[in-house]
Amino acid sequence: MNEIYISSRPCLVICIVLMALLVPICDAKKCAFEAIFNFGDSNSDTGGFWAAFPAERPPYGMTYFKRPSGRATDGRVIIDFIAQGLGQPFVSPYLQSIGSDYRHGANFATLASTVRLPNTSLFVTGVSPFSLAIQLNQMKQFKVRVDELHSSGKTNLPPPGIFGKSLYTFYIGQNDFTGNLAYIGISGVKQYLPQVVSQIASTIKEIYALGGRTFLVLNLAPIGCYPAFLVELPHGNSDIDSFGCMISYNNAVVEYNDMLKEAMEQTRKDLPNANVIYVDIHTVMLELFQHPTSHGLKYGTKACCGEGGGAYNFNPKVFCGNSKIINGQTLNATACSDPYNYVSWDGIHATEAANKLVAYAILNGSYSHPAFSLYKYCDIRPFT
Ligand SMILES: *[C@@H]1O[C@H](CO)[C@@H](O)[C@H](O)[C@H]1NC(C)=O
Ligand SMILES: *[C@@H]1O[C@H](CO)[C@@H](O)[C@H](O)[C@H]1NC(C)=O
Ligand SMILES: *[C@@H]1O[C@H](CO)[C@@H](O)[C@H](O)[C@H]1NC(C)=O
Repeated sequence: MNEIYISSRPCLVICIVLMALLVPICDAKKCAFEAIFNFGDSNSDTGGFWAAFPAERPPYGMTYFKRPSGRATDGRVIIDFIAQGLGQPFVSPYLQSIGSDYRHGANFATLASTVRLPNTSLFVTGVSPFSLAIQLNQMKQFKVRVDELHSSGKTNLPPPGIFGKSLYTFYIGQNDFTGNLAYIGISGVKQYLPQVVSQIASTIKEIYALGGRTFLVLNLAPIGCYPAFLVELPHGNSDIDSFGCMISYNNAVVEYNDMLKEAMEQTRKDLPNANVIYVDIHTVMLELFQHPTSHGLKYGTKACCGEGGGAYNFNPKVFCGNSKIINGQTLNATACSDPYNYVSWDGIHATEAANKLVAYAILNGSYSHPAFSLYKYCDIRPFT
C-alpha cells in the first residue's frame, strides 16, 4: 500500500511515510487527499435532494450563499468546511446534473436518507429513497464511469487513481434513529440500531475494496437537545436535564454511539491498511447546546428559523420557510436576524455557526478515535 501511494503520487519536496498511518506527508502546500466522497443525510447534503426534487426556498442559505443552496441550513455544512480546509471546492452532489464538477469527489448525501432501506409501511414520516445502499451503488457507478471515461478527455471527472487518495466521510444514521422514535419509542428503535451500525461497517469494507483507505465516521449528535424533538417526542418534565435536553433520548444516542465506536474499532482490526476514524462530534455538539455562550453563541435549544417563539421557536405544523393558515390566522416560520447566535437553525439542523465549530474540531482531530489530525496530511486553509 505504501508503494501505491508513493508511486502514484510522487512527492517533489520532502516525503515522509508515516508507517503507522500509511499515508505519505509530502510538500506542505499540498494535501494527501485529493478528493472527498461523502455519504449522509440532510446534515451533509450539499444539493442532491433538491436537485432530484426541486422545491427549496428561502431563508435556507441566507447566511453564506444568500440564496437556497441545497443545504438544510443557513450556510455551509460540515463537509463544506472540510473541503475548504483541504483547499478543495465544495463537493458536488452526485445527483446534481447542472454545474457539478467531480474532480475533487462527489457527495452522495441526500436529505432524509437512512442507513437501512426505507420501509414505507414503518416510516410514517417522509424519508428519502437514497438510503446508504443506494449511495454505495452510486459510488460504485461513479468509479465505473471514471474508469471508462478517463481517456476520453472529460474534464469534470477525477483521474482513475483518485480513490486511494480520497477522504471518505460518513454522517448518517440520525434518520434511522429518529424516523420512528415517536411511534415505537426508544426500545423499539434499539432493536434495529445494531443493523444500522453493521451496515455502516460493511459499507466501509466495500469502499475499501474499491480502493478507499481513509474513512471518517461521524457519530450522532445529541438529538435530545434539538428543538424539534423537544417539541415532538413524548417526555415528562423529569426527563429534562439542567441544560434543557431530554435525558432518555440523549442516553439512547450515547448507547448508539458506543455501539458505532465499537464497530469502527472492529472494522479497523479487519482492515489493518486503512484509517478508520470514529469522530465524536456528539461531544462537540453537546458542549454547544450546554454552554453556547462559551463558544460565541447565545441560544442552545431554541431554533433560529421557526414559528411560535418561546423556548424552542418550533411549530411542527409550520416548518422553516413555510406559512400556513391555522384557525384563520396565517402563521409564518421565519428566520431570526442573527443565525450566528444559534446552535439550531430550523429545530433539526445545526446552523452554519455550529457546523463551523464542529468542523474545526474534526480538522484538528481533538475528537477523533484514534487520534487523527488532518493537519498532519494537508496544509489546512483557514476559512471564515
Ligand atoms: C416494515 O414495517 C412493517 C410494519 O412494522 C413490518 O411488518 C415489515 O416487516 C417491515 N418490512 C421490512 C422489510 O423491514
Ligand atoms: C404572516 O405573513 C403574512 C403575509 O406577510 C401576514 O399577513 C401575517 O400577518 C403574518 N402572520 C403573523 C402571525 O405574523
Ligand atoms: C481543536 O478544536 C477544539 C474544539 O474546537 C479546540 O478547543 C482546540 O483548541 C483546537 N485545537 C487546535 C490545536 O486548534
